[in-house]
Amino acid sequence: MKNKVSIIGAGMTGSTTAHWLAEREIADIVLVDVVEGMPQGKALDLQEALPVIGKDALITGTNDYEATAGSDIVVITAGLPRKPGMSRDDLLFANADIVRKATEETIRRSPDAIYVVLTNPLDVMAYLTMKVAGVEPHRVVGQAGVLDSARMRTFVALELGVSVENVHCYVLGGHGDEMVPLTRVSNVAGIPLEDILPRERLDAIVERTRKGGGEIVSLLKTGSAYYAPAAAIAQMVEAILKNKHLVVPASAYLQGEYGLNDIFFGVPVQLGRRGVEKILEYKLSDSEREALEKSAAGVKENIAKLKL
Ligand code: APR
Repeated sequence: MKNKVSIIGAGMTGSTTAHWLAEREIADIVLVDVVEGMPQGKALDLQEALPVIGKDALITGTNDYEATAGSDIVVITAGLPRKPGMSRDDLLFANADIVRKATEETIRRSPDAIYVVLTNPLDVMAYLTMKVAGVEPHRVVGQAGVLDSARMRTFVALELGVSVENVHCYVLGGHGDEMVPLTRVSNVAGIPLEDILPRERLDAIVERTRKGGGEIVSLLKTGSAYYAPAAAIAQMVEAILKNKHLVVPASAYLQGEYGLNDIFFGVPVQLGRRGVEKILEYKLSDSEREALEKSAAGVKENIAKLKL
């Protein structure tokens, strides 16, 4: 039997995730959205592309959660963008309501599903998903680190004129301005970035990585990035379905790792069929630990606001 992946939120990131997944031919896909006709239209359009690229997968678009029944993976991208006059807290509460509903509706129909969460504020929404679904922590993972690290890899590769495949970067921490790019262990073909880039260039790349989301928002004017976030989700979904034991930076529930407890936070995570198989720990320098703790405090503050 084919795997089944349901994507809640058929907006830019949700539908682009469906596209990347259909190209991989690893699952049937269900796109769910509140907007009438839109998920149906996008699903049919994508379905009609598959003969051209020679891939077989069933793509369903719907406003009804029934079609998600028996999903192996549920991806949550449903959410609102921040509108003028809306505070970060307003967005937090609005998206919490959306993610809560998406989780309640899906867990009833797919009691064994693994959740991949994208909706912002990411680490808080992943925490909410775990609580509302009432599932073990290994069944929920948030996408942020693959994207943040991919942005950093892009900037390094462009700066040095080397293949992106030779560039390995690791961005940890909360998905926000306080994220922690680990320049000490990031490398080009094994050579630490700190040895291959002048200090000021490396600092500029770190800064651009931290502001990577905002850079795209200010260019697009309406909406935020979606190609790279969706590619990141697809990589994580594939790692889970194929039981690859792939280590990626992602948001996972911490129970003492990195000295942190009861928080979803960006760390190196090994992904396989049961979801988060393992959390890997770097030996951190004092300044890295300090930066992670600062980032964690911001995430904890927002989790507390939800009073779960
Ligand atoms: N149930 C299902 N879908 C919903 C719901 C809901 N209750 N509420 C909103 N949606 C849908 C919207 O109709 C929209 O199609 O979620 C989709 C979000 O898509 P976009 O606005 O295109 O946003 P996108 O760029 O895909 O980003 C998704 O990720 O970056 C985060 O939190 C940010 O909200 C953003 C999310």
